[in-house]
Amino acid sequence: MTGAVLALLEGGPRLVDPTTPILRADDLGVARGEAVFETLRVASGRPAFLSLHLERLARSAARLAIPLPGGWAELASFATDAYDADDGMLRLTCTKGPPGGRPVGFALVAPVPSETLSARLHGVSVVTLTLGVPAGVRSSAPWLLGGVKSTSYAVNMASIRAAEAEGAQDVVWVSSDGYVLEAPTATVAWVTGGRLVTPPPDEVGILAGTTVAVALGLVEVPVQTRAGTVEELRSADEVMLLSSVRGVAPVLRLDGRELGLGPVTAALREAFETAVQQG
Ligand SMILES: Cc1ncc(COP(=O)(O)O)c(C=O)c1O
Repeated sequence: MTGAVLALLEGGPRLVDPTTPILRADDLGVARGEAVFETLRVASGRPAFLSLHLERLARSAARLAIPLPGGWAELASFATDAYDADDGMLRLTCTKGPPGGRPVGFALVAPVPSETLSARLHGVSVVTLTLGVPAGVRSSAPWLLGGVKSTSYAVNMASIRAAEAEGAQDVVWVSSDGYVLEAPTATVAWVTGGRLVTPPPDEVGILAGTTVAVALGLVEVPVQTRAGTVEELRSADEVMLLSSVRGVAPVLRLDGRELGLGPVTAALREAFETAVQQG
C-alpha cells in the first residue's frame, strides 16, 4: 500500500490510512461477492473518462440490487487530488454492506503495477479458453450477470492462472459454440480485412468496455461491432486487448501463433494514450 490513498464515501469524502480495515465481516460483498467496482486510469492528475465509469457503476449496482449512494464523482476527484502523483490507478468499490445495512463505498488510488505498463508497451501472450456456455446465454439469462462489473472475479483470476500455467499472460474467453467473448479484465478487438472487429456486448453478454467505446472513435479504419468466431480471431492480422489502465495492449502471440505489432494497434495505442492525457 506504499503511496496509496484511501478515501471513504460515507461521512465525507474523507481520507483514512490506506491500511485501515473498513468492511464488516458480514458485509455481503465479502460473504457473497455482492459488490461492484470500477478501475480507472489517473492521468494528468485526473480520473480519465470518469463519467463513462460512473454510468457503468450505476448499471452494475442496479443489476446486483445495491442501492448506490450518491457522491462518487466527488469521491473520485477527492481521492485523486490527495494522491501524490499525476499517473496512477483509481479503484471505486461499493459493497452491498451487512444484511439490512447500508452499502459501503470507497476509493483507492495506487501506482500502476509495472506488469500493466509492460503489457501496454511490450504486448501480451494470450491463449483462448472456454467459458463453457453458448454466446447467447449470458444475455438471455441476466442472473448469470454477464456484463456486470462485480467483485465476483474469482473465475476471471483462475482463468489467468490457467493461462500462466500454459506460459501465456492473458486469456480470450470463447463460448461453447465457438464465438469470441472477452478477456477476464479486458475487451478483445482484432483486425481482419482492413476492419477493426469487436464483439457486441448486448448480444454476447460481455462487459461494455469504456476503453473500446473511446477507441472506436479514434481508430482510423472502418469498425464492425459483431460476433466473430475463434477461427476468425486466430487468422486475424492483428489482435489487441483494451482496458482502462493497460490501455491498448497488443497481442503478440495467440494460441502459439506469433503476431507482430500491427499498424492499426500501434496507431490506436498512441491515439488512446493522447486521449487519456486529455481526459
Ligand atoms: C471482464 C472485463 N471486460 C472488459 C473490461 C474492459 O473495460 P474498461 O475498458 O472499461 O476497463 C474489463 C475491465 O476491467 C473487464 O473486467
